[in-house]
Amino acid sequence: MQALILAGGEGTRLRPLTSTIAKPVVPLAGRPFLSYMLEWLGEHGVGEAILSCGFLADSVRDVLGDGSDYGVRLSYIEEPRPLGTGGAVKFAEPRLEERFLVLNGDVLADIDLTAQLEAHERTGALLTIALYGVEDTSAYGTVRCAHDGSVVEFVEKPGPEHAGPGLINAGAYVVERGVLHTMGPAGTTISIEREVFPRLIGSGLYGYAASGYWLDIGTPERYLQATYDILDLNVLTAVGRRIAAAGSLVADDVSLEGHIISPAVVDRGCEIGAGAIVGGRTVLGAGVTVGAGAHVEGSVMLDGASVGERSTISSSIIGPEATIGDRCHVEYAVLGEGAGLGSDSVLEAGARIFPGVRLPEGAIRP
Ligand code: GDD
Ligand code: MG
Repeated sequence: MQALILAGGEGTRLRPLTSTIAKPVVPLAGRPFLSYMLEWLGEHGVGEAILSCGFLADSVRDVLGDGSDYGVRLSYIEEPRPLGTGGAVKFAEPRLEERFLVLNGDVLADIDLTAQLEAHERTGALLTIALYGVEDTSAYGTVRCAHDGSVVEFVEKPGPEHAGPGLINAGAYVVERGVLHTMGPAGTTISIEREVFPRLIGSGLYGYAASGYWLDIGTPERYLQATYDILDLNVLTAVGRRIAAAGSLVADDVSLEGHIISPAVVDRGCEIGAGAIVGGRTVLGAGVTVGAGAHVEGSVMLDGASVGERSTISSSIIGPEATIGDRCHVEYAVLGEGAGLGSDSVLEAGARIFPGVRLPEGAIRP
């Protein structure tokens, strides 16, 4: 089985993290995000994946290569410009087989694609959408189906006035090649959600209500939630299986004078000073420094980031090489790559510091 992964969005809502790291390879619990998707696809018989990307494409290729580390043959297709979710599928037409999967490249999931394929066979659908139940459908593609599973309504992001529970488009489709003939010419901009799905209603568009874990990681809050869910084993992943066995994953060469509270992932070359506490639900990338007496909890610090003595960091994402001084308090914040926060600063409530921006000592206070 073949899969086309849509990963050409700019990931604007995950900025400033995605200002310098392409969303598909943003590290999640120490591994490139898309590696989770490749593993999941592999478990459901996908042998070949085509990654449709644009923004920061070379960096994606550098990290994921030919996919051999993840057990899937991986190739790339680059649009001349972002063609939209439907345009990207049409653009890949020469490479696509009779039946293939299409996936939004920003979901962490373990839903049963094999069962979705079986449902697709059973109904004889042209296109089967995986559906997932959420409390508020308004920010997603909302879907209503008849008893036989055929889709009777698809509304993309109906807006907050339509908030309420229901089934949403989970961004995983089984597609028959025939769908491509219903789309505009290759090279034009097409939204699969706004243009293709509404047209297919009544002509072979079906839904498959999936169970299991599903999350779109496209905002800092959801990125942290995804991290927690991997560490807490709420989603089935290879990393989670290793954590289940070991409690925390700590590289051999970590210099540890403080404590690690499970679950945590601490990568190569980290230094954790005297009396410092790292965890729970915390991920430190390679070469992260945590000063004496500091406390890092419910947070992610990416490669080379550092935090000074007696600082506290909670529910935050600290980008690669970002530096935080001594005695700082950082909560619900995101620092981009190489950003800096001087000593004795307080950063709270959704603050974001962009890559390379350095704030002097005591710059931000409550
Ligand atoms: N190649 C390519 N070209 N990929 C694109 C383009 C494009 O022009 N535009 C978006 N993508 C990719 C994104 O990188 C992402 O992986 C995926 O398509 C979905 O785009 P998002 O921008 O993340 O969409 P969304 O999250 O607002 O909404 C979509 O996903 C929801 C589930 O997470 C829709 O499909 C909704 O209907 C769905 O509920
Ligand atoms: Mg998304």
